[in-house]
Amino acid sequence: MTERIRAGILGTGSALPKRVLSNADLEKMVDTSDEWIVTRTGMKERRIAEPGEATSDYAAAAAERALEAAGVAAEDVDMILCATVTPDMMFPATACLVQHRIGAVKAGAYDLSAACSGFLYGLANAVSMIEAGRIRYAVVIAGDLLSRITDYTDRSTCVLFGDGAGAVVLGPVEGDRGFYAFDLGSDGGGADYLCLPAGGSRMPATAETVANKLHYLRMQGQETFKFAVRAMAASTEKVLTQSGFEKEDIDLLVPHQANIRIIDAARKRFGLDEDKVVVTVHKYGNTSASSIPIALDEAVREGRAKPGDLLVMVGFGGGLTWGATAVRL
Ligand code: UT7
Repeated sequence: MTERIRAGILGTGSALPKRVLSNADLEKMVDTSDEWIVTRTGMKERRIAEPGEATSDYAAAAAERALEAAGVAAEDVDMILCATVTPDMMFPATACLVQHRIGAVKAGAYDLSAACSGFLYGLANAVSMIEAGRIRYAVVIAGDLLSRITDYTDRSTCVLFGDGAGAVVLGPVEGDRGFYAFDLGSDGGGADYLCLPAGGSRMPATAETVANKLHYLRMQGQETFKFAVRAMAASTEKVLTQSGFEKEDIDLLVPHQANIRIIDAARKRFGLDEDKVVVTVHKYGNTSASSIPIALDEAVREGRAKPGDLLVMVGFGGGLTWGATAVRL
């Protein structure tokens, strides 16, 4: 009988713009205050890409760093997945642009759209392909430049978002390392909570859609907040149950970074000390699907996430979508 293949994380990487947009900067742009932003969201600053830059620039840099950390050559990568809601273009896929940029000559490449949950969806896709024995190495990237779809005259959204990308290299692992469980969910009934109204097939771009600001992200903040708190708890519970781990087994929780109050609600629900939760929301804001792999990469590079640690990653976002996974590094 052939041995079951288990996929795991071989390396992590991330890439962030240098330019900082602080709360003080935002105070000059819209009617807001540092005090409001910090108490309601936990955010102090976020990173913003330069004009002319695109998601693939950061996605490729994050992928290269992850490959270097994994010790895997780009030519050996079989599949590249990029989770994004701000692709360079509607098509071709940003993953294809990354494939060419990093020289992954034999890789298949595609984008996937699950908003802020996209990284978890990407992981589940790639893990399935590796564990089925169809591919050996995958690069899963999440990259978004939300500044490109943010209305910087709308104080209810513009204080929240930032730009960046994160990536992991996945491949077969030995022993008790690897992915133990996934939970993925959706509820299209909440599609209006978080959406980009125009530019798709329902409402193609016209001078009118531009004038009406329909190419900017729209969010019903409070509804999304309530959904987020519920989804984080339920999805984490599910992967713990599926994998047979207890909340006490979690070495590190790596949640989507949308709001410190949402993260704190999850932390308290699972009785985790602050040092068991990775938080980057104060310095990068909400970077959509990228927030989990950026936080993961920082935790690995700072030595907070170590080989053998059990991590739970959990996120939620537009769709509505949500997801979680339990993985031993
Ligand atoms: O990753 C995708 C998922 N997204 C999320 O998870 C976001 C979830 N939602 C949230 O994080 C929160 O709902 C927000 C941070 C977006 C908003 O916080 P909130 O505590 O729900 O505030 P609110 O929307 O209820 O607004 C409270 C007040 C309102 O004024 P009034 O009506 O009470 O006079 C807003 O107009 O705060 C006002 N407000 C602001 N004031 C200063 C809204 N935005 C701002 C602002 N600065 N930037």
